[in-house]
Amino acid sequence: MKNVLLAANWKSNKTKFEAKDWLKEVSAQSFGEGLEVVILAPFTLLDTISGYIRVNDFPFKLGAQDVSPFDDGAYTGEVSARQIKEFADYVLIGHSERRTNFGESDEMVRKKVERAIAQELKPIVCISDLSQVANLKFDQELTIAYEPLEAIGTGKPQDPDSVEFMANQIRAKMSSARIIYGGSVNADNLRDYINLDGIEGALVGGGSLNSSSFIDILKNAI
Ligand code: PGA
Repeated sequence: MKNVLLAANWKSNKTKFEAKDWLKEVSAQSFGEGLEVVILAPFTLLDTISGYIRVNDFPFKLGAQDVSPFDDGAYTGEVSARQIKEFADYVLIGHSERRTNFGESDEMVRKKVERAIAQELKPIVCISDLSQVANLKFDQELTIAYEPLEAIGTGKPQDPDSVEFMANQIRAKMSSARIIYGGSVNADNLRDYINLDGIEGALVGGGSLNSSSFIDILKNAI
């Protein structure tokens, strides 16, 4: 059985209390081997979640949803990779919501990946088309989340054949990439994607917010 990565992208949601409720409910379940689950949380929750994971020996990993393209220093409002590394092992970079709403360019995404790698964070880099991988030449293995724009948050996931086609195109350019799919993934359609040859997991937004719907997704992942 292949290893599957499930990343829960909470986006700009949840207070500390809401996060703790979710953690309590999800951690009451047991999960099978070969499943790696990463909570991609807002910066404000990293301390709380990493503490919960440590104290409860909860087998989930933690990631941030963005990282500064700079090291520590005079960059008001930014959070550096070194600061994130204190709490988390992963970082999501270049989500289409950042590219669209905050003008993140491919060059900016590349700089963020560099900073993350320098601090030994594992980047999950989002792309929605093939041109966006051109800038991503790194020695380290990257996780690429293929997320077609029209599938994000719409309830209309891309058809699995097209996802497989795209995964092959990505792998032709980045032979060592771990490729996951994101866009309206839920408990019912998850296996359509993680069963594909070229796909090794899923990035789940809306379906990860509610603990019971995320538990259903986890149950179908194994
Ligand atoms: P969605 O979001 O699962 O709500 O479509 C996925 C994402 O934006 O990462």
